[in-house]
Amino acid sequence: MKERISESGIIEDQELAEYYNLMARRYMRFPCQRVLKRVVAKGIEKGRAMDVGTGPGIFPLFISKALPGIRFKGIDLSPVMIDLAKRNAKEQGGGDAIEFEVGSAYSLPVEDHSLDLLLCINTLHHLDRPIDFFNEVARSLKEKGVFVIVDFHRDVSFLFVGIFNFLWKIFFGKHPKARKGFLDSVQSSYTIEECYHFLEQSKLKQWKLYTRTVEMWIESISKMKRRDR
Ligand SMILES: C[S@@+](CC[C@H](N)C(=O)[O-])C[C@H]1O[C@@H](n2cnc3c(N)ncnc32)[C@H](O)[C@@H]1O
Repeated sequence: MKERISESGIIEDQELAEYYNLMARRYMRFPCQRVLKRVVAKGIEKGRAMDVGTGPGIFPLFISKALPGIRFKGIDLSPVMIDLAKRNAKEQGGGDAIEFEVGSAYSLPVEDHSLDLLLCINTLHHLDRPIDFFNEVARSLKEKGVFVIVDFHRDVSFLFVGIFNFLWKIFFGKHPKARKGFLDSVQSSYTIEECYHFLEQSKLKQWKLYTRTVEMWIESISKMKRRDR
């Protein structure tokens, strides 16, 4: 297993952020639908939600349109990304149901046990202190609150890396600054075993972890079910 090469930090480069926004707006519909499906399956249709590492806000904007009873706050450490998210919200008529602000995954701007839903998509690999983040998730969710965390994982096979890197270059990697984006993100992601370890060390108690090709999904499970590995 290759060593992790950290890609911690935020997307601050205006040109790269604008490009990310353009590509996300163009191609993120299907990933948004998949996350929405998991939210619906968990019975969340209203309440307070937070999207951590929201980038240009594509996921909360999509989900709050489908589930208007959810009041979203999208946070990101990058002011450049938050400006883009606000711009997207204005263009799409996000209204009062959604707000964006600069904030850290390690110190979520929310009171204890107040969220019904927490999302964190394609961001875990930016976090060098995942246990601190998971503890923040545990602190901020209501007892029956739900979370969905999606990211890459470093156990991915060479075959999938090859296929997805090829697709990345076609759809996302046309800009020189984004060309190595997929490989950098995978190298910065965690292995499944590392993630089990972090979750077990954290205060999050009811979760399941599973993989889908290049992705790792970590979700809350209801208290009635046993943790599955
Ligand atoms: C790859 S982007 C994902 C954006 C969005 N979730 C999506 O899937 O379109 C990762 C985002 O995480 C943000 N980020 C990195 N470290 C962070 C931290 N410690 N707290 C909050 N956001 C962070 C970056 O600025 C970047 O916008």
